[in-house]
Amino acid sequence: MLYQDFYKKSIKYPEQFWKEQAQQLDWYKQPNTILSKDQHDYFQWFEDGQLNLSYLCIDKHIKDGYGNQNAIIYDSPVTNTKQHITYNQLHKEVSKLAGGLLSLGLKKGDTCIIYMPMIPQALYAMLACVRIGVIHSVVFGGFAPHELAIRIDDCKPKAVITASNGIEIQRIIPYKPYVDDAIAQAKNKPEHVIVFDRDQEVDIPKKSYDVDYKTLVETSLAVDAVPLPATHPSYILYTSGTTGKPKGIIRDTGGYATALKFSMKNVYGVNEDDVYWAASDVGWVVGHSFIVYGPLLNRNTTILFEGKPIKTPDASTFWRVISEHNVKVMFTAPTAIRAIKKEDPEGQMIKNYDLSCLKYQFLAGERCDVATLTWTQEKLQVPVIDHWWQTESGWPMLANMVGVQLQEVRPGSASFPVSGYDIQILNEEGHEVEAGVEGYVAAKLPLPPGTLMNLWGNTERFKSGYLNKFPGYYFSGDGGYKDEDGYIFITGRVDDIINVAGHRLSTAEMEEIVASHKSVAECAVFGVHCDIKGQKPLGLVVLKSDNTNDNDTIQNEIIKDVRHEIGAVASFKDVLVVNRLPKTRSGKILRKLLRNIADEQQYNIPSTIDDVTIIDEIKTIYQTHHIGIH
Ligand code: COA
Ligand code: AMP
Repeated sequence: MLYQDFYKKSIKYPEQFWKEQAQQLDWYKQPNTILSKDQHDYFQWFEDGQLNLSYLCIDKHIKDGYGNQNAIIYDSPVTNTKQHITYNQLHKEVSKLAGGLLSLGLKKGDTCIIYMPMIPQALYAMLACVRIGVIHSVVFGGFAPHELAIRIDDCKPKAVITASNGIEIQRIIPYKPYVDDAIAQAKNKPEHVIVFDRDQEVDIPKKSYDVDYKTLVETSLAVDAVPLPATHPSYILYTSGTTGKPKGIIRDTGGYATALKFSMKNVYGVNEDDVYWAASDVGWVVGHSFIVYGPLLNRNTTILFEGKPIKTPDASTFWRVISEHNVKVMFTAPTAIRAIKKEDPEGQMIKNYDLSCLKYQFLAGERCDVATLTWTQEKLQVPVIDHWWQTESGWPMLANMVGVQLQEVRPGSASFPVSGYDIQILNEEGHEVEAGVEGYVAAKLPLPPGTLMNLWGNTERFKSGYLNKFPGYYFSGDGGYKDEDGYIFITGRVDDIINVAGHRLSTAEMEEIVASHKSVAECAVFGVHCDIKGQKPLGLVVLKSDNTNDNDTIQNEIIKDVRHEIGAVASFKDVLVVNRLPKTRSGKILRKLLRNIADEQQYNIPSTIDDVTIIDEIKTIYQTHHIGIH
């Protein structure tokens, strides 16, 4: 079928379209009500259906006779390990861990935080939770204990599942001590911390709440998956908002399963049996949807990669994994490609591997610059598909739907709306703008299945953040435009969120930490261009008049504070001391102007600016410190 017909059907007859897609799943109880409203007057899908994600990802395939197929290939260059895990083995691990969780008193509706490196036990933990209706919340390992504590206090988990340690390029990440530190900081105390010991001679501090993961699994009975309502939350995933407090995105069960099964076939073009690799982390939405649930629902073999695109051991790692494991479709962030390109500009290392198995290379997580797209196309000789989505959507919103119809790739564009998403570019008044005109990227309600249900414990923020700006629409927070042919170009966030190496971070959160330094009178934190990471945060600080410390000391302390509070993932390494900041006459700091000057973007000097002479002052400071594009 042609994309246009297929897409139009999803917009014109959403209930019929998604009912058919839902029939691809093995429900305990097929839904009769396809689309309805919840108690908060927001849309929900498949209200009266019953199913279980863990059953669909594991038991269903065993029942169909595929128990010996590889479910997961764990490839870990940092530990020199390769492990093939069949669906039968996955069943054993997950069903026994689920039994262990029940024996500890966890029950349907409880929450459980998972703070783990990229090891199979992280996947087992997620699948064990959803097997018994426990709502998991995976926290990315690059976040510091303070961030973990914020999440513990927000979702109040009964247990935390963690590991002794993770391994970064040059250092060991002490996960268990971080968890202990977070629990000490949190007001809410989880009852149990289940610790997987990686046997890497790392000291594991012992606490009274500790439970040994391996003993728990060995001594527990396997349990079956329980039927859950389609609207039961499968997980909470925290993501950066425009305030210091992260937002807990809630995902349902039935809509999510339907959307993922649909996207594996129609967006990514993979069939059951194929090997699929998303080189992300289980701490991000890409990991949830396309390392764990999507490929396993679709009976693919998913690659679990514990390493980096470079330095583990070199820039050929990705090509080795593709060729060695017969990967058909791969998904990574443009940052990873830029890092590889920097180490191996001519792509010489690619020539050492037979990549004939690779059919499509997908990119997402941040804006894909044309140079990166072109390089990847040239070197891999396969269609390179930029696609756009968010933690909130849970699965792609804009893409070249290769499983339906591969269309011409237009560099800089994430192509067309995916089935179910009526994407429109709106002006401030909420009217659709003409082709070529930039505006706010929004999707007309209802969103298709699988997107966010609400924010954990904060319906008010859910409505004010996404629904109130343009009544009848979901507002994505991104800006963009459509060209004459309907290709959509995302130009970037219109709020204080930045994308650093494909990681979504809040500059407002960083700014709160910088502002609390004892020598800082006022400050601004915003994102500036970075050749490898796309963007990086920059802090400008004005010091208090009675400050007596030297600038170097203050800068180092501020950098340390942000790393300590948010974590290494913030990549906050640049702070400049300035005499003053550009402001409006009413005293508002002009952050956008500061960013645009750094990135040499066209900018209008706001008529409300207090003193226009500051612009040259800022330009000189940037030039002296090589900030932005110069
Ligand atoms: N646990 C603990 N620390 C972590 C971590 C984790 N899971 N992931 C990253 N960090 C740390 C890194 O060690 C680094 O610390 P440092 O400041 O001490 O060096 C810091 O967080 C920043 O990490 P990162 O932004 O990943 O930078 P890097 O220099 O280590 O690596 C790249 C650069 C380009 C190789 C890397 O960013 C990359 O692979 N990017 C692709 C991103 C991606 O796939 N994103 C998924 C979104 S779809
Ligand atoms: P996250 O919620 O971490 O997945 O980040 C989502 C944000 O990343 C989006 O709102 C965009 O700003 C950005 N993003 C993701 N994919 C793309 C893409 N293909 N092109 C441009 N921006 C993207």
